This record gives sequence, C-alpha cells and structure tokens, in this order.
Amino acid sequence: MEKNQIPAHIGFIMDGNGRWAKKRLMPRNYGHSKGADVFKKCIDWCKELGIRCATFYAFSTENWSRPDDEIQGIMNLLRRYIKDIRDTVEKENRIIILGDISRLDEDIRNDLIDLQEISKNNTRFIVGIALNYGGRPELVRAVKQISQDCVSGKISPDDISEELVEKHLYTSEMPPLDLIIRPSGEKRLSNFLIWQAAYAEFVFMDVLWPDFSKKDLEYAIAEYAGRNRRFGGI
Ligand code: IPE
Ligand code: IPE
Ligand code: MG
Repeated sequence: MEKNQIPAHIGFIMDGNGRWAKKRLMPRNYGHSKGADVFKKCIDWCKELGIRCATFYAFSTENWSRPDDEIQGIMNLLRRYIKDIRDTVEKENRIIILGDISRLDEDIRNDLIDLQEISKNNTRFIVGIALNYGGRPELVRAVKQISQDCVSGKISPDDISEELVEKHLYTSEMPPLDLIIRPSGEKRLSNFLIWQAAYAEFVFMDVLWPDFSKKDLEYAIAEYAGRNRRFGGI
C-alpha cells in the first residue's frame, strides 16, 4: 500500500462491549474488560501498519447517564489499564488525553497527568484517549479560551480563524483525522471529534469491539485506501 493510502490518524469508537457481554450472559463490565484488552492490542496493530496516531473513544460526556456500578467498573478498569498504558510509553508512545478529566477520581486524574507528562517527548506514535470527552464540550471549551484571549486583549476577534480554533482543540498536536472506525453496527458519531471529522472517512462495521481483530483493522484501512477523497474538488 502506498504511504498516502495509510491514514495518519484513526479515531476508534470502541462500541459494543455491552452487547458482546450480553450475548454471553455475562455482566456488561465483563465486556468492558475484554474491550480494554483489545484497546491495548489495537495500539500495536496500528503501529505495525504504519499509522502515526490513533484516538480511542473510551468514555463520553453522555456515558455518566449509565448505572453507577457500570461507571465504577469502567473507572476501575481504567485504574488497572493505566499501568499497561504506562508500559506502552516505554515503547515510545505519546499519550494525549482528550476530555475534561477534572470529574474523574483524583488518583486516576493524577496518573493521567503524569502519563502525558512523561511521554510528551515521544514521537514514534501518539495514543489519544478520549475520556469524559464530547465534541460539543470540546468546542465550548475552545470558544471560552478564545473569548478570554479577546477580553484580555491578547487577540482581536478578527484574528479568529479555523487554524486558531484548531489550536484550542485537544487534537492540536495530532495529525489531521483521516478515518473513523465504528464497530458494533451503529452508524453515528455520538459526539466524537465532530470538528475533526469534517473530512474524515467513515468505516462502520458490524463486529462488536471485544471481537475487533487486526484483520478488521486491515479491512478498514483497505476500504479507506479505495476511497476517493475529493475535499470538495473534482
Ligand atoms: C462501549 O460499549 C463502551 C463505552 C461506551 C464505555 P457499550 O457499553 O456502549 O456497549 P453497547 O453499545 O451497550 O453494546
Ligand atoms: C459512544 O458509544 C461512546 C464510547 C464508545 C465511549 P455509546 O454506546 O455511548 O453511544 P450511543 O449511546 O450508542 O450513541
Ligand atoms: Mg454503545
């Protein structure tokens, strides 16, 4: 495959954990645990396939509406997986968290800040983890930051451009989003990277996330490579 046929940045909507568990008559959190294993493996698959950056949707701003025990289960998994993510930092991965982590428990929050800090000079591969993330809150945050710069006189409203808005998004240090993969059969963004998705390609797949394999990733990339991205041209 030619280099420009390989997406630089893939967004993964890790969906279908609950249905996967239900099919096995197991609690939903069992599905989340299997899903977390796939998340870890998927980082390596992306690197093997020459991708430079992958962002994983782990918990949305809307997911707080789930039952407490499910949220607690996901947070406990996160605690456990922070250790695994730390191992990947040693494999030259840079970790960037997307989302408002102030609502997470203090120990998790501190570990995430630490992970970003210790990995910030790694350049081989960027792992984005969207946690308490929503595309609309991300835009509201950018608008607030830019307004503050206007009020303080640092910039004038005429200085506001697409490039400036992008500097205020969580993805500012990532390559442009080329491809979004959503398993589980749902065909929607669910508030994931709404600004960044403007010209991304979408691949929706029926496989449930805990069953997602390297073959599925290869299929999605082949599908992407076969698309004609016109960006409004002819
Ligand atoms: C995605 O799987 C994981 C999170 C949203 C945290 P789901 O839990 O949404 O699984 P389904 O969609 O109910 O099968
Ligand atoms: C999107 O999945 C969020 C994550 C994968 C973290 P959801 O399962 O929450 O999305 P909806 O509810 O089907 O739109
Ligand atoms: Mg779901």
